[in-house]
Amino acid sequence: MAYQATATAPVNIAVIKYWGKRDTALILPTNSSLSVTLDQDHLRSTTTSRADAAFQGPDRLWLNGKEEEIKDGGRLWVCIKELRAWRREMEESDSALPKLSEWPLRIASYNNFPTAAGLASSASGLAALVSSLSTLYALPQSASELSRIARQGSGSACRSLFGGFVAWREGTSPDGSDSLAEQVEPASHWPEMQALICVVSDAKKGTSSTSGMQRTVATSPLLSARLAGVPARMKAMESAITSRDFPAFAELTMADSNQFHAVCLDTSPPIFYLNDVSRAIIALVEEINRANTTPIAAYTFDAGPNAVIYAQAKDMPVIITAVKKFFPTEQEFTDPLKVGEAPLPQGF
Ligand code: PMV
Repeated sequence: MAYQATATAPVNIAVIKYWGKRDTALILPTNSSLSVTLDQDHLRSTTTSRADAAFQGPDRLWLNGKEEEIKDGGRLWVCIKELRAWRREMEESDSALPKLSEWPLRIASYNNFPTAAGLASSASGLAALVSSLSTLYALPQSASELSRIARQGSGSACRSLFGGFVAWREGTSPDGSDSLAEQVEPASHWPEMQALICVVSDAKKGTSSTSGMQRTVATSPLLSARLAGVPARMKAMESAITSRDFPAFAELTMADSNQFHAVCLDTSPPIFYLNDVSRAIIALVEEINRANTTPIAAYTFDAGPNAVIYAQAKDMPVIITAVKKFFPTEQEFTDPLKVGEAPLPQGF
């Protein structure tokens, strides 16, 4: 007997960045963060999980067709363990349920974009894994409860369980029970919001976010100044989103991206995620905004050189024209990405 479930999860790009863990085992962040979930037609992970009584040996996982080890005590292992434990509880209280929790798993995940290029592949990948397993196990848990599990796979993954504008509340509990993601506004609240992704390099990033964060927390004197300012910035960002105030959204997004990269530079040894092309994109967006009375574009960069430029639909054509003029490319630009809704796992 076998059961199988497939789920997809979109990429999210933070506008208030998560950078630093206060608990590395539970993945509890040093600050709350806020992101925009992108349209999954363009960037998504798709994961199929299968439980089969006939499978032998340990659980196995393939990423983009290549088998990856599920290390004992590692992040994937923790996510699978927690979801299986929830299933076991259900099986114990209802003897009619098939004992899926006892069967080995086979998990296959695919990204339709370059993995580990600063495009948050771990976020969509882990969110899709948690979604597919929770569907397979028919768990009744809410998306916020599942975000607590996804967080332990990759911090930013907890935000990919929701569409639209999503906050990850850092929480105060030492056991992480209140470190959850929640939707601030659905995508339909601000349909004019679009994202342009400028792939500066699709090479794998040099410093992983895990080791980069560890180094920043251990060595950056600037980090405490950043952390002191994040609560006010979160509040201002939420109100900019709620009132659809693009200029405020843009100022806050760019300031937060720059501060995150300043903290990286303040790390010892320093971490350089931006390159000359990234900096030229910053200069171009600043110039576009200077030429307008209020900002019409907002750049942000994660742990890599690729830019994400947020803009409203009415302004996107001007921005694309400028980007194409200064950064001619052989590759055609596709339609700007819209903010997309993530599908919720079945059973809610
Ligand atoms: O979840 P991780 O470990 O991949 O870290 C993500 C860190 C940033 O992308 C730089 C910021 C964020 O909030 O997504």
